[in-house]
Amino acid sequence: MKLNLSADAVLKTTRAVRKRLNLSKDVPVELLKECLNLSLQSPTASGQALTHYILIGDNERKEKIASLYRNAFEIYQKQKKTVTTHHPNQNSADRMVDSAQYLAANMHKVPWLLIPVMVGRYKTSLECASVYGSILPSVWSFMLAARERSLGTCWTTLHLMFEKEAAEVLEIPFENYTQVALIPIAFTKGTDFKEASRKDLSNFLHMETW
Ligand SMILES: Cc1cc2nc3c(=O)[nH]c(=O)nc-3n(C[C@H](O)[C@H](O)[C@H](O)COP(=O)(O)O)c2cc1C
Repeated sequence: MKLNLSADAVLKTTRAVRKRLNLSKDVPVELLKECLNLSLQSPTASGQALTHYILIGDNERKEKIASLYRNAFEIYQKQKKTVTTHHPNQNSADRMVDSAQYLAANMHKVPWLLIPVMVGRYKTSLECASVYGSILPSVWSFMLAARERSLGTCWTTLHLMFEKEAAEVLEIPFENYTQVALIPIAFTKGTDFKEASRKDLSNFLHMETW
């Protein structure tokens, strides 16, 4: 199941996978635990473990979370219509909308959903930076480890529009824990993924001063 990709290849080709999620192939939970164990190696502020993960494989529970995601996606689409119709690269924007629609319609069929959860609820920039900074590297490490094992993932956040309702479904004490994402996980259809087209580094890199 391991692809033996180089570290650079994993970094270049870990894409948002939606249409190429294989919805009909089971994913052993042990494989996910392997990825999660690797993700625990990522750094955390003050060495504190503030990250929890909920893995959801039960069909009824997945349907409830997927339904919240679908509702949020519909609201998001209505709001975003004007933005995506004036996108500089209309073809790639259309492809992304199409792919996002596919994921919204099929979220409940994905073998596993992963929700990373952090301890506490936060307001100040320092708190947010420290706590998100302690969880997001771990989530991304999970996604990279998954890619190496022929698994596809897609970072999503839209279900957080209904975070409280999701907390009820998952029995998370809402006042004390914050959900940060919803990651669908499945084996991929094929294992070849391309490097994404991104703007040149010169657009983002400021040498010495702004
Ligand atoms: C913070 C964050 C939130 C995202 N939320 C969603 C989401 O709710 N739904 C979705 O389909 N994709 C979501 N995405 C995935 C992006 O749309 C994705 O990164 C984009 O399609 C580019 O994909 P690529 O890196 O494979 O080129 C999110 C990505 C990030 C980083």
